[in-house]
Amino acid sequence: MEYIVKTENLVFEYKIQAADDAAAETKAALGGVDIAVTQGEFVAVLGHNGSGKSTLAKHINCLLSPTSGIMWVKGISVADEARLWDIRSSVGMVFQNPDNQIIATIVEEDVAFGPENLGVPPAEIRARVDEALLSVGMAEFAENPPHFLSGGQKQRVAIAGILAMRPDIIVLDEPTAMLDPIGRREVISVVQKLNREGITIIFITHFMDEAAQADRIIVMEEGKVAMTGTPAEVFAQIAPLKAIGLDVPQVAEIADGLRRAGVALPQGILTVDALVEAICQLR
Ligand SMILES: Nc1ncnc2c1ncn2[C@@H]1O[C@H](COP(=O)(O)OP(=O)(O)OP(=O)(O)O)[C@@H](O)[C@H]1O
Ligand SMILES: [Mg+2]
Repeated sequence: MEYIVKTENLVFEYKIQAADDAAAETKAALGGVDIAVTQGEFVAVLGHNGSGKSTLAKHINCLLSPTSGIMWVKGISVADEARLWDIRSSVGMVFQNPDNQIIATIVEEDVAFGPENLGVPPAEIRARVDEALLSVGMAEFAENPPHFLSGGQKQRVAIAGILAMRPDIIVLDEPTAMLDPIGRREVISVVQKLNREGITIIFITHFMDEAAQADRIIVMEEGKVAMTGTPAEVFAQIAPLKAIGLDVPQVAEIADGLRRAGVALPQGILTVDALVEAICQLR
């Protein structure tokens, strides 16, 4: 099996510079992480605040370099400085705040920024920008100033900017945290579409219903992987999840309550539709 992202005992410590010349203190953020992501997979990363999700994400495009252990992206070690550019041009990052990611005053100029930095020829940039905006459903806003857009639209423009660089992997660090329910749905459905088109997705979120859409979930706790499995497998672990401060999707909890009350529901119910169907099949 070919892994597009893989780590082996990945450790990262932040160095906290003391104000005076005293020795810098360190803060352990990743304490030996082993993950393996398959090409084309959609992986959601869950975990309480401070569990190391963003720190892990920042290794994937070399914003951070391991204190010890290894991370490979497309088979290249992120510590291999000579290959930094290869990794950075294959991994797109989308962050929480849409307003911090859009820099140009016209949507299409913003989307062109990435490929311009990669040295893509102008005619090709034009084609890539059009294609990327079409892909996220924002083509009609190409000539608009971004500040009139909704949060969900801005995140889709940010994603278009990444797409125009033709990445193999997109890492999204809580891209829906600042959005309303409509914006969240827009972003999720664009991400799902890109995944169907073959892009590997690593999606950090605090929303359990979003994680339920992934192929696989990785749960982080205090700098380590606490659980991994399909959404059905992970969300069946209601008590262990609650013990580390996480919830399960509301529907999974309702289904669990019904099972405890003696209703013969199957395992793995994560959506309202699945619950309705299971109830209709009871007799
Ligand atoms: N720049 C930094 N300097 C020092 N410590 C940091 C820094 N950034 C994060 N940390 C610490 O590293 C640990 C992991 O933080 P990280 O941001 O990766 O967690 P997270 O899971 O993304 O949290 P959140 O859900 O709040 O985004 C935390 O204890 C955090 O306080
Ligand atoms: Mg974070």
